[in-house]
This record gives sequence, C-alpha cells and structure tokens, in this order.
Amino acid sequence: MAKAHRHGRVQGHRRQRRLNVNAPIGVFDSGIGGLSVLQALQSALPHQHFVYLADNAHAPYGEKTDLYVRQRTHAITRYLLAHHQIKALVVACNTATAAAIHELRAQHPHLPLVGVEPALKPAVALSQTGHIGVIATRGTVASDKFARLLDSVQGQARFTVQACNGLALAIEQSTLPQQATPAQERITELLAQYTSAMGSFGTGPGQMDTLVLGCTHYVFVEKQLQALLGPDVRLVSTGEAVARQTRRLLEGAGLLNAGPADRSSPQGMALFTTGDLHGLQAAAERWLGLPPGSCHQAPAAI
Ligand code: DGL
Repeated sequence: MAKAHRHGRVQGHRRQRRLNVNAPIGVFDSGIGGLSVLQALQSALPHQHFVYLADNAHAPYGEKTDLYVRQRTHAITRYLLAHHQIKALVVACNTATAAAIHELRAQHPHLPLVGVEPALKPAVALSQTGHIGVIATRGTVASDKFARLLDSVQGQARFTVQACNGLALAIEQSTLPQQATPAQERITELLAQYTSAMGSFGTGPGQMDTLVLGCTHYVFVEKQLQALLGPDVRLVSTGEAVARQTRRLLEGAGLLNAGPADRSSPQGMALFTTGDLHGLQAAAERWLGLPPGSCHQAPAAI
C-alpha cells in the first residue's frame, strides 16, 4: 500500500486532511471481538492512543450480506476519520476485512490500513500432521478473499474449514450479565457441535493438530476450545501479527508517537459502541482491565 508521510494527506472520496502523529489509531469490529486485537496493539504500541468502535447495533457481521458489511465498514471509517481524526485504521474483523479492505484501500490511499485474515500461512508452518482446521464466520468462509487465501496455501497442507453461525453472537451475549448463563451454555454447545463436525483433533496421523481462529471473537473462547480439543492442539490467532504490521506501517509513515500515551485520559484509550454500552464496558473491564466509565455511546446515525 502507499505510504503516508508524517503530514501526509488523507484522501477519502470527499475529504482530505493531514495525518497527525499524536492522533489515535482507529480500531473497529462488529462488537467485542476486536478487543482481542486491541489487547495485542496496546501491548506492542504502548505509546499510541486508540479509539475503538464496536458496531454492536449491526452485529453479527458474519451472518449479514456482503453489501451490508461493506456499507458498515465505509460508514465507520468515515466516522472515525471525521470525528476522531485517526492517523491509521485497524479493521479488527475478518469478515469486514474480507468484504471491504480492497475498497477501503482504494478510497483512502494515504491512510495506513491494516486488516485481519485467518492465519493459514503461520498454521502451515506450525502443523506437524499437515491437517489444519479453520473456524470463521459464514461471511469470511464464503468470501472471494478467503478463497484466494486458501488457494495460496493449497498443496502445503490439508484444510478443514467450518463456518460457525451463532458463535460470535453467543460470545457477545456472554458479556451481558442477564444473558451470561444461557449464552455460555450456547457457546459450549456450539463449540462441541462445530468441532465434532470437523473431524478428529490430535497429533496422530491425519488428525488436525492446529486450529486457526478466523474470527476475532473466538479468541475469547480459546480456553474452552483448548479444553475441548486437548492440550496438544495449537490454536492460532492473529492479534500479535496485526500489531507488528501496524507498528511497521506507522514507522514507515513517520507516524509512531514516541511519547507515553496517557491512558487515564479519554484520548489515550476511548471505546465507543453503537449498541449496548454495558456489554462493551463489561468486556473492556474483563479483557483489557480498563476502569468503569471507559466506554461511551456512539452516535446512532453512524
Ligand atoms: N469478529 C468478526 C470477525 O473477525 C465478526 C463477528 C461477527 O460479527 O459475525 O469476523
């Protein structure tokens, strides 16, 4: 992608502005899933400011049409540029990346942009049995981008791919106190159902010894998956690789803030949701250790 300069110009289809080294990095997902990426970004880039948008009112993306996810992605990008003056964008959602990253790159050629995709190549390097499982949303699995990714590793391993309808939603609901118990039961049921449909996991000949978590929400059920599949199966996610790529892009563009970010200030780490504020706040406290009051309501019109 094109490099931005310290004071490069961001060009959307209608507006242009300068990138500012002190501005926040925008991160978004359909809900809490992207917090798993934000966690990795925060630890790899401790001096940067972040603004996170959880599009809960429009989740789950994985079970919506491609057009719907593209429209949401563009609307959120416009909002983050106009209202938070972001200097870079991390699309912390495999489904939105698959549907819209190419259009975002075309529309914002000077904005450093990082997407996430299922970590098939790292999984090939890790697998001993040569049989790899992949779980992701229906939208990701059905996308052309995923088909091309799968093509690029064909012949290097055998892949068993499973779309997990309902799982991201159940993970979202598990953060809401009044829905936590039934949501947790649903997660247990769905994980058992989908992993058993995929076949046999383990380190024996022909078994899947590696499972790619192709949805950022699934990182939050990693412990349950590990307990279900056994300690020898490796679970592969993308948060750290995304954080490294974000650092590289910012460095290349001269946009890495060198001073310490004040995380207690609203600008240091600000989280917004288009949906239920309590769910995001509970997840932010639980997963990122943020204090009460860290999350805010985003404008309904995004
Ligand atoms: N967390 C998102 C992903 O990585 C999408 C979950 C959803 O909204 O379906 O694909």
